[in-house]
Amino acid sequence: MSSLHEQIQQYEAEITAFTPIDATELENFRIRFLGTKGIVKQLSTEMKNVPPEQRKEAGMLLNSFKQLAEGKYDAHKDMQQAGASKGPSVDITLPGTPLPTGTRHPLRIVENQIVSIFEKIGFSVATGPEIEDDWHNFTSLNMPEHHPARDMQDTFYVSQNPDWVLRTHTSSTQARVMENQQPPIRVICPGRVYRNETISARAHCFFHQCEGLYIDKDVSFADLKQTLYYFVTEMFGEDTKVRFRPSYFPFTEPSAEMDISCTVCGGSGCSLCKHTGWVEILGCGMVHPNMLRNFNIDPEVYTGYAFGLGVERITQIKYQVNDLRLYSQNDVRFLRQFQSL
Ligand code: PHE
Repeated sequence: MSSLHEQIQQYEAEITAFTPIDATELENFRIRFLGTKGIVKQLSTEMKNVPPEQRKEAGMLLNSFKQLAEGKYDAHKDMQQAGASKGPSVDITLPGTPLPTGTRHPLRIVENQIVSIFEKIGFSVATGPEIEDDWHNFTSLNMPEHHPARDMQDTFYVSQNPDWVLRTHTSSTQARVMENQQPPIRVICPGRVYRNETISARAHCFFHQCEGLYIDKDVSFADLKQTLYYFVTEMFGEDTKVRFRPSYFPFTEPSAEMDISCTVCGGSGCSLCKHTGWVEILGCGMVHPNMLRNFNIDPEVYTGYAFGLGVERITQIKYQVNDLRLYSQNDVRFLRQFQSL
């Protein structure tokens, strides 16, 4: 009896570990265990050697062993039949079919580039909410209610709360940083912003910005120019020229807009630069003393600069994308072109 018991244990281990690769192996398994001269048959002929008082127990043991072998066989038979009915069976020894990986979105690629250029010179990343209150999006930025500069940005208001807007720029994140941190402050704020514009090749109701803010003692306009010039040479190459034009933003004084020499035609004139040789890429200026005061930063002690650039604009110049709508249409023929980046 003990030898019957031992044999069954050994065979059970074999059966449990068994995984056939193909139909032949499964058939061999059937013949070995369940065939007319198979192991189950052999063991049952040994039953006559078992002393009568142990026969009942041995019979049960043998029966469950038989069920184990049959169960294994039936399960694999079913699997093979299911596989066969769907066409040729799968050769599991072959390497798998690779799943195609997605690609980074061009705007994300460019945003990452912009962020890493500024990170190299000590800027850290700050992010903020897309649904913003009036204080952080407008009032604290020296744009009180009824200030005409609010009309520069066609704002989406949130109907549930008249105080809430979809942020029109990531300057709102700069406001939040100033609220929570004393100088020195050196942050870059990437993110999506919203403006109520009719969607066309040149305008969209949402787009992306990266805005920078640096506040410390003795920060000057020369620092701003040098930082932006560094950014341009890193992003577009050393031969790129910059020029600053006076401009107006309520939260900076003086304010400027910066153009770069057209990287597509090299200045000779093309549709990107509208035959001027220059393309505008950002707005900037020295942080307005009123804004510093709004966050309890003493403008007699600290000065700072800020700049805001559009990620779509940089991407358009870098990759000559001529229609803003392409960025949000999810057309893989467009998106796949950035696969290698
Ligand atoms: N917030 C401005 C805009 O969205 C850009 C800007 C940022 C200008 C910082 C000056 C300084 O148009």
